[in-house]
Amino acid sequence: MLKLCRTLPGIAVWPFVSACMLAQATVRPHPERQQWFVDAGKMTYAMGVNEQGTLQSLYFGPRLGPHAVLPVAHSVPERASQGPSSETTPQEYPAWGAGNFTETALKVTSPNGDRTLILKYDSAAVKGDTLEIVLKDATQPLRVHLYYQAFPEGVIARWSRIENTGTGVFGVEDAASAALSLPDGTGYNHSWMTGMWAGEFQMHTEPLEVGKTVQESRTGHTSLNANPWFAVGKTAETTEEAGPVWFGELGWSGNWRLVTEATSLHQARIVAGFNTFDFHWNLAAGQSLETPKFYLGYTDGGNGEASRILSRFQLHEILPMRAAGGLPKPRPIIYNSWEATEMNFTGDTQLALAERAAKAGAERFVIDDGWFGKRDDDHAGLGDWYVTPKKFPQGLKPVIDKVHSYGMDFGIWVEPEMVNPDSDLYRQHPEWVMQFPNRQQTQMRNQLMLNLARPDVKEWMFNWLDKLVSENDIAFLKWDYNRVWSEAGWNAAPGSSPEHPNADAEKTIYVTQVRNLYEVIDRLRAKHPKLEIESCSSGGGRVDLGILQRTDEVWPSDNTDALDRQNIQYGFTHGYTPQAMVAWVTDVPSMDHRMVPVQYRFVVAMQGSLGIGANLTKFSDAEMDLSAKLTAFYKTIRTTVQQGELYRLQSPMGSDESQVEYVSPDKSQAVVLAYLHSQRLMLRYDPVKLRGLDPAAMYRVRALDPNKYVGDVTVAGSVLMGAGVQLKLQGDYDSTAVALERVQ
Ligand code: DGJ
Repeated sequence: MLKLCRTLPGIAVWPFVSACMLAQATVRPHPERQQWFVDAGKMTYAMGVNEQGTLQSLYFGPRLGPHAVLPVAHSVPERASQGPSSETTPQEYPAWGAGNFTETALKVTSPNGDRTLILKYDSAAVKGDTLEIVLKDATQPLRVHLYYQAFPEGVIARWSRIENTGTGVFGVEDAASAALSLPDGTGYNHSWMTGMWAGEFQMHTEPLEVGKTVQESRTGHTSLNANPWFAVGKTAETTEEAGPVWFGELGWSGNWRLVTEATSLHQARIVAGFNTFDFHWNLAAGQSLETPKFYLGYTDGGNGEASRILSRFQLHEILPMRAAGGLPKPRPIIYNSWEATEMNFTGDTQLALAERAAKAGAERFVIDDGWFGKRDDDHAGLGDWYVTPKKFPQGLKPVIDKVHSYGMDFGIWVEPEMVNPDSDLYRQHPEWVMQFPNRQQTQMRNQLMLNLARPDVKEWMFNWLDKLVSENDIAFLKWDYNRVWSEAGWNAAPGSSPEHPNADAEKTIYVTQVRNLYEVIDRLRAKHPKLEIESCSSGGGRVDLGILQRTDEVWPSDNTDALDRQNIQYGFTHGYTPQAMVAWVTDVPSMDHRMVPVQYRFVVAMQGSLGIGANLTKFSDAEMDLSAKLTAFYKTIRTTVQQGELYRLQSPMGSDESQVEYVSPDKSQAVVLAYLHSQRLMLRYDPVKLRGLDPAAMYRVRALDPNKYVGDVTVAGSVLMGAGVQLKLQGDYDSTAVALERVQ
């Protein structure tokens, strides 16, 4: 992979062609035309200043050549007195003012009561891979800094910083990370994901009709109900493997909003960032408000390539623990005891599971909820983060030592942002929870939200986590978060107090809480560089690129039913890398009362970071042997699954047959995971046509189940892709896996 182009600050690179032009991520200013080109991988994003001094979107599509320029930006003329130019000109960062009624990126109230803004170009600077364009209002002392960072994987990050350069206080009511204009007016298909507890990452694709689609979270965190990802393709052209796709996702774990808008005048736009719901930020003199990063990409390789770009990007640029210039290491096979024991356990019952987990091939043993305080069920204990002597009379050390002796490292569950009213912490610090005066707090799962925006709560949280990790040999934390917000009051917010409440000042809790969460995790990881973390929120309630910069993996869903999981994982991989997708094999009957064979459960969980959550003490010898065989096979394909190129060959949505394929970046190994939900009419399993192989190479077939593969031992890549692989899957819930190793 070529390195980023590092442009020297203050040096205009245009029109000289340099080695930078060939690099995969560059920023190319064209000062004469007042245009900027952000080249990332195979795409270019461009904007320019029009004759009115407004920054206007110019281009978002396939990469333009190093000499390419665009016609000088020009505003769209007024169409009618009720269709002003300000509304139809594709402004790069539209503020509310001058008759602009499309979805705005910025709305503020100025200290003198002026509620409009008219942003004009001020200046631009390029620092390495990042372009900064500054806009300023015609009369108010307010500047908007727009940032564009180019990544070689074919992604740009866009975000903004709103700066008060005056002496009064601005009230910011809406501050988006970015607004973008799609190139054509009509003919789009819009995809997004919604969800619920035990049903996350459900894909929707609909024609983009005139109007707005709002995806958002108001829950305080990323949310189970929607995920901050989108993709837009062309209805007549885009498929899984071909056609244009514009896509993106936010890096923010608090309230967010992503609006996709098509207008009657054939314009299509997307605006994303902080949610405007209950939002307010008092921007004092000299202060800035920085918005979350909005990561954007374009491909003409269909939805599959859009996912592969995001996966490469997350592996190379987002996930923590990347070795210098390289990738994070593949995830270990986790055993998690939650589904086996819930909170009803002792150290001995955990060790009985640990012994079996090691035999089944697990590499990490995780004790879930219930190890601390008076935590025998979910009514008590959250907040009291000491090891309960009732379950661990000698503390955690003997248990951890034993887990190590089985050849696994050790992890433990925490839920730092929550407290049970029945806890010593709450009894000592009732003022530490989110609250409004004289109003009863709403409990969910018998717990309340700690107000992490408070500096004292932040310090307490860092300190106990640091102590826990320092005093015990803990390799991994599963960081959980099991309720949504309510009564989001903060009467100790800067600018507010019980005596002089200031509702606007208290609304900063939405942003400050998330920033402080990030700060605690960052400090913890800096102090304990080997510590790994999983983000969980009753399943996939906190999956976004903000948390993934700080956590190594996520728990996509509490639903571990193999069939449901196939659909959830299908959606998940559109936005997120398989490396981060933890999937456990659990017991049957499942949540859906479904009986699914052990192998099917394993082959579904092998689609990402394989884990086990079944009660292995109840597995028969045959099931234990099969588990060991399957984990051993997984270890031979793990790097390709987690860090390779994913091809969703056949979607499980509404189909009896489905397959996923992974190809290592150098095409030396490929893996096919194949499923038959139910056979009908005695039909034969269709040949599986592979993708992404080297057509000229020969591949040796290594079948997990030799009796389910029909064909030669060594097969040309062209044949595997053209004629396909014949698998013998039959009956209900049959599954298998085939690895292909390049031999020449
Ligand atoms: C919700 C998580 O999603 C589960 O895996 C488990 O950790 C429980 N919380 C524990 O309370």
